[in-house]
Amino acid sequence: MMNLIAQDMAAVNAVILERMQSEVALIPALAGHLIAGGGKRMRPMLTLASAALLDYPGSRHHKLAAAVEFIHTATLLHDDVVDGSGMRRGKQTANLIWGNPASVLVGDFLFSRAFELMVEDGSLKVLRILSHASAVIAEGEVDQLTAQRQIGTDEDKYLRIIQAKTAALFAAACRIAPVVAEAGEEAEEALEAYGRNLGIAFQLVDDAIDYTSDEATSGKDLGDDFRDGKMTLPIILAYARGSEPDRQFWREAMAGDRVGDDDLAHAVRLLRSSEAISDTLERARQYARRALDALAPFPSSKAKAALTEAVEFAVARAY
Ligand code: IPE
Ligand code: IPE
Ligand code: MG
Ligand code: MG
Repeated sequence: MMNLIAQDMAAVNAVILERMQSEVALIPALAGHLIAGGGKRMRPMLTLASAALLDYPGSRHHKLAAAVEFIHTATLLHDDVVDGSGMRRGKQTANLIWGNPASVLVGDFLFSRAFELMVEDGSLKVLRILSHASAVIAEGEVDQLTAQRQIGTDEDKYLRIIQAKTAALFAAACRIAPVVAEAGEEAEEALEAYGRNLGIAFQLVDDAIDYTSDEATSGKDLGDDFRDGKMTLPIILAYARGSEPDRQFWREAMAGDRVGDDDLAHAVRLLRSSEAISDTLERARQYARRALDALAPFPSSKAKAALTEAVEFAVARAY
C-alpha cells in the first residue's frame, strides 16, 4: 500500500505539519509530540487508496485526508484523557506530560483545523459526511462511558459503541474519495461499507490486543481497558461463558476492585481458556470478509490490492 500512495502520503504529511502550527507554542509542541510519535496513518491512507481505486486525477484529497487524520488525532487526545492512558505511539501521552486541560484544548484546536481544511475544499457533501462522523464518534465515546463498569453490557451495545467511536471515521475516510472523484452513489455506498466493516474489525482486534500484545509492540499500556472497566467483546464473551467463581471475578474486576497485575494476569488466563480472545478475532475476520465483499464491484487494480492488504493488516496486526 505504501508504494502506491507514498507520494500522496508525503503531501498529506506536509499539510498536517503545516496546519498544526500556531503562534501559541504549546499547540505545536503538544500536537507535534503526538504526531511525531508516528501512528499508522490508516485513515488518510484509506482516503488516498480509495481515490486511487477510482482513478481520481486531482489533489483535493490531500487536504481532506489531512482533515481526517486531524479528527483522528483530536479524538486520541481526548480519548487518552477520558481513559486516563499514559502511553500512546510508544511515548508518554500528552495528558501525562502537559495535563488534561492542555490535551483537551489542543484536541479542540485540531478538530477546528480539520473543519477549516474541509471548508477550504468547499464540498458541502464532504463537510456533511465528516461533520456527521465527528458527531457520531463523540456519541460513541459518551455511550461507552455509560457502559463502563456495567457488567450487563451485551454484544449489541458493544457493537453499537465501536461502530460509532471507530468505524464511523473509517467509513467516512473512504466515502469522501468517491465524492471528490464524482464516482456516484454506488461507489460511495460500496466504499462506505468497506470502511465501516474494516473499522469494526479494526476495533475488535484492538480490544483483543489490549490483553494479548505487549507495550513495546502496541505502543500503549497493556490492560488499560481492564483497569478502566471497559466491557469489550473479550470480557462480554468470557463473562457469559464463565463458571460462577469466574463470573464473580469479572464482576469485581469490572467494578474496579481487582485491578492489580496479578488480576490482569488472571483475566488474560480466563480470556484464553474461554476462547474469548480467539472468538473476538474470529468475529474480526467476519467483518474483514464483509469489507472485502464490498470491494467486489471494483475491477482489479493496484489500489484494490492495497485496500485488500489494509484489511489483512487490520486483522493480523499486533500494534
Ligand atoms: C487508535 O487508532 C484508536 C482506535 C480506534 C483503536 P490507531 O490504532 O489507528 O492509532 P494510530 O493512529 O496508529 O496511533
Ligand atoms: C478508540 O478508543 C476510539 C477513539 C479514539 C474515538 P480506545 O480507547 O479503544 O482506543 P485506544 O486503545 O485508546 O487506542
Ligand atoms: Mg483509549
Ligand atoms: Mg477509549
